Amino acid sequence: MPLFPELRPRRLRLTKSIRDLVAETTLTVNDLIYPVFVREGIDEPEPIDAMPGQYRYPVEKVTDLVSRALELGVKAIILFGVPPAEKKDHIGTPAYDPKGPVPKAVKAIRREFGEEPVIFTDVCICGYTSHGHCGIPIEKRGRKLIDNDSTLKVIARMAVAHAEAGADFVAPSGMMDGMVQAIRGALDKEGFTEVGIMSYAVKYASGFYGPFRAAAESAPKFGDRRSYQMDPRNAMEAIKEVILDVEEGADILMVKPALAYLDVIRLVKENFPHYPLAAYNVSGEYSMVKAAAEKGWIDEKLVTLEILTAIKRAGADLILTYHALDVARWLREGYNPF
Ligand code: PBG
Repeated sequence: MPLFPELRPRRLRLTKSIRDLVAETTLTVNDLIYPVFVREGIDEPEPIDAMPGQYRYPVEKVTDLVSRALELGVKAIILFGVPPAEKKDHIGTPAYDPKGPVPKAVKAIRREFGEEPVIFTDVCICGYTSHGHCGIPIEKRGRKLIDNDSTLKVIARMAVAHAEAGADFVAPSGMMDGMVQAIRGALDKEGFTEVGIMSYAVKYASGFYGPFRAAAESAPKFGDRRSYQMDPRNAMEAIKEVILDVEEGADILMVKPALAYLDVIRLVKENFPHYPLAAYNVSGEYSMVKAAAEKGWIDEKLVTLEILTAIKRAGADLILTYHALDVARWLREGYNPF
C-alpha cells in the first residue's frame, strides 16, 4: 500500500465538481416533511414567538400554506392541532372530534389538492388534555401515574378520525406501550387498511421540545414526560422500541430529536435497513439555529444544510423539519455550500 506522497485524499476535494461527483449524501426536497400547526378560532396566521418564521394557521388558511409548499416541491406535511383551551379535558376528548382542527384541515387540503400532498397527522393527546400529558393520569397505590391502556383507546379513536378525514399516515408520538398495535387494529377494523403508520418509535424525553410546547400549548402542567419518553442516556434501548413497533405494524420508523441523537439514527438504520427511517429535526434544534443566525453568529443557510445533510448521512431517509420551505427555496436557487 503506497502512502504519502502517492496517496493524497485531497485530490478528491480539488474542485466543487469533483466534490459533487464523489459526495456520498445529497439532500433533496423529496426527503422533507414540513410540520404545520392548525389552530381553531383564529382568522389570520399567528406567529410563534419561540420559532421565528413559523405560524399557527387557521384551518381556513392552511390550504394557502400547502399551496406554497407544493409550489416549492415540498410534498409532505405533518399536522398538529391546537384546540381552544376551554375544550380540553382530563382524557383529551377533543383529540378524536371529527370536527377538530386536524380532521378539518385534512379535508380542506384533500378537497383542494386531491391526493398529491402526503398528509401525516400527529396522534397524541398532549395538546388536547387539560394537564398536558400524552396519557391519562390516574391515582394508583397512592401514586400519580400516566395510565397506558386507557390512553390507547383515546389515541386509537383519534387515529380513526384522522384516517376518516383523509390522512395518508397517522403518526403516534405519545410513547405509550402498544400504541402502534392499538392504532393498526382500530384502523383495520374500520376498513382503513391503506392508511399507514409512521411511529415515533424512538422518542427521547428532551429539552429540545421547548419551543414546540409553547407553540402547541401542550406543556405538562405537573411532572415531566420521563415515565414514557426515553432516557437520553440510552441507545440500545432504541432497538427494543423499534422491534416492538415493527412487530406491531409500523410502516415508517422515527427517531426524535435528530441532532443530539445521530448515533441512534445510525443504530436504527443499520439494524432495520428495510424500513424507511424518519428523523425529527425538532423545534429546539430549529430555534437554536434561528437565534444564533439572528445574532449574526452563524450562517443560517450553511448551518441548516450542514445539519440536515448530517441527519441524512447518519441514516435518515426522511426529515421532519421546520426549515423545509426555506431549504426547498435554497435548493431550487441552486444553493450548494459544499
Ligand atoms: C407530542 C409531540 C411533541 C413534539 C411532536 N409531537 C412534543 C412533546 O413530546 O412534548 C415535539 C416536536 C418539536 O419539538 O418540534 N407528543
